[in-house]
Amino acid sequence: MDVLSLMEFPIVQGPMAGGSCTPALVAGVSNAGGLGSLPGSLLSPAAIRDQVGQIRTMTDRPFQLNFFVQPTPAPSEQEVSAGVELLRPIWQSLGWTDLPVPAQWCQDFSAQFETLLELRPAAASFTFDILSASQVERLHSAGIAVIGTITTVDEARAWEAIGADAVVASGVEAGGHRGTFLGPQEEATLSARQLWPLVAEAVRIPVIAAGGIMTGVDIREALSLGAKAVQMGTAFLVTDESGIHPAYKQKLLSGHGLTTRLTRSFSGRYARGVENRFMEQMESVETQVPAYPVQNALTASIRAAAAKSGDTELMSLWAGAEVGRARALSVAQLMQTLVAEMRPT
Ligand SMILES: Cc1cc2nc3c(=O)[nH]c(=O)nc-3n(C[C@H](O)[C@H](O)[C@H](O)COP(=O)(O)O)c2cc1C
Repeated sequence: MDVLSLMEFPIVQGPMAGGSCTPALVAGVSNAGGLGSLPGSLLSPAAIRDQVGQIRTMTDRPFQLNFFVQPTPAPSEQEVSAGVELLRPIWQSLGWTDLPVPAQWCQDFSAQFETLLELRPAAASFTFDILSASQVERLHSAGIAVIGTITTVDEARAWEAIGADAVVASGVEAGGHRGTFLGPQEEATLSARQLWPLVAEAVRIPVIAAGGIMTGVDIREALSLGAKAVQMGTAFLVTDESGIHPAYKQKLLSGHGLTTRLTRSFSGRYARGVENRFMEQMESVETQVPAYPVQNALTASIRAAAAKSGDTELMSLWAGAEVGRARALSVAQLMQTLVAEMRPT
């Protein structure tokens, strides 16, 4: 299926779980000729249906849904209590006598997958793992194009082999979680500009370049390195329509001095965000915390308390390495600006 034909301009808005991608943001990107993306991973089937319904009242143009390919875990009591213990300095600093046990570890991916088939968006992208060939076939039968997220050449080949229509090649600069699924996450260290041409050489399906793309000039460069389109996350994170916490947005727009790095401490999977007290305090034990999604669920109450008090030191401030170049614009203005900047001078 032809993913590129879904866009007038080769710009995919990166799906970003956690509240940034409001229906207005997703529809705004699609209405401006890009491909809007609704992150469904943290949403129940009912919430996914509701948000897709809202998007469809705002646009007739194609958009995509995105999911974490993730089985629901069954951690042992010992694993959970070890995780709670590693977080003790953080929850004690909040004056708590214990850490609340989460009601669930994650949403059920198989139920989300059935909801995706029912809603039939033009495309769906996936990260954290790979689908089976029969799942890809089911999506194709429903008219849904399939996009896999990759961080290495081998992962791109694996998605191509099961029939994916495109891959998002995500360099280490990218904001949010690494999508690595073959081999240790620590070893998937290729920068965007190293990864894109290698992947474009290795597979025949279109490569969507991701990681550190902030301007139309960056888009041109990615296309010149073999990509057929780009996926931009951080640039959309600070738009007017983004639903992130105001203190988080303010922090991202606070200037060029922000340092981002990969951390495992918030979720149990490496992700890039702005350094803060949580990351610093947990650094010495970050390789020991339970794997995603257990750690993510364990830190949820801490992150919720931080959001309530507007304390950016304990929020997960996911952002890409080029966040210093993010511009506070509306989605329509950002899209217009990118398209104008892409034109050769
Ligand atoms: C806050 C945040 C949340 C993200 N959540 C997801 C997600 O749910 N699914 C996904 O496939 N990628 C996710 N990403 C990655 C983006 O879709 C995109 O590939 C990445 O941001 C590109 O790098 P950039 O931030 O340097 O533009 C997230 C990124 C950020 C910054």
